[in-house]
Amino acid sequence: MLKVENVTRTFGTKVLTHALKGVSFEIKKGEFVIIMGKSGSGKSTLLHQMGLLDTPTSGEIYIADKNIKELSTGQQTEFRLTTLGYIFQEYAILPELTAIENVYLPMMVNTKSEGTPKSEKAKEMLEMVDLGHRLNHYSNELSGGEQQRVAIARALINSPQILFADEPCANLDTLSTKTVLGLLENLNKSIGQTIVMVSHDPDDQRYADHVIWLEDGLIKSDKYKIKGELI
Ligand SMILES: Nc1ncnc2c1ncn2[C@@H]1O[C@H](COP(=O)(O)OP(=O)(O)OP(=O)(O)O)[C@@H](O)[C@H]1O
Ligand SMILES: [Mg+2]
Repeated sequence: MLKVENVTRTFGTKVLTHALKGVSFEIKKGEFVIIMGKSGSGKSTLLHQMGLLDTPTSGEIYIADKNIKELSTGQQTEFRLTTLGYIFQEYAILPELTAIENVYLPMMVNTKSEGTPKSEKAKEMLEMVDLGHRLNHYSNELSGGEQQRVAIARALINSPQILFADEPCANLDTLSTKTVLGLLENLNKSIGQTIVMVSHDPDDQRYADHVIWLEDGLIKSDKYKIKGELI
């Protein structure tokens, strides 16, 4: 599903920051992957490379057997819209739109979804994240956890092959964190949604079946959960 080969990312021109120093690993379909590591270890940078939100300085990334370097700009955009889904730390839902409008927004720009009744699908997604009763609320009428669940529904509306999440619970309280992580776990288990999530809370490892630890731009460990143990 996703293969990262010797990827580096260096920022700056005079003062160079080597955020990624050559990382390689593979992610299989249906995995719930967690990328862990201290602040500044390169987690977000890595997620951005995999999510086509930034370009590696060197190395290769393959998604669904395609080398993303070989895609045209148009194909990359199409990939971001139709194959990948994103959830960020900041909920990033638009305040001018209601919950349901936020969720069907990505369908408006997805030419492949033409003909699909957008509001029906968006309603379904919001029901899935338990927000069927908040369809017409604006973001200032929703709690942090509810806003993040709207963001999840939106990220899933085009049925992405991979869902990327960068510390999706960083701004949430304990209860909302549990709800959001439980929801992701459920998506992974029930429909086999492939999820790649960045976290710096070691407790979150219990949700994962593949845990990659980064340290200073390098992979410190790459383990799979087998019979409840990370090996
Ligand atoms: N656009 C940029 N320009 C210059 N340096 C950057 C840029 N983005 C990230 N860095 C640097 O790269 C390193 C890795 O950053 P990154 O954001 O990937 O860390 P992180 O593991 O996600 O940290 P956190 O847990 O705090 O989010 C850091 O030293 C950071 O300062
Ligand atoms: Mg980060």
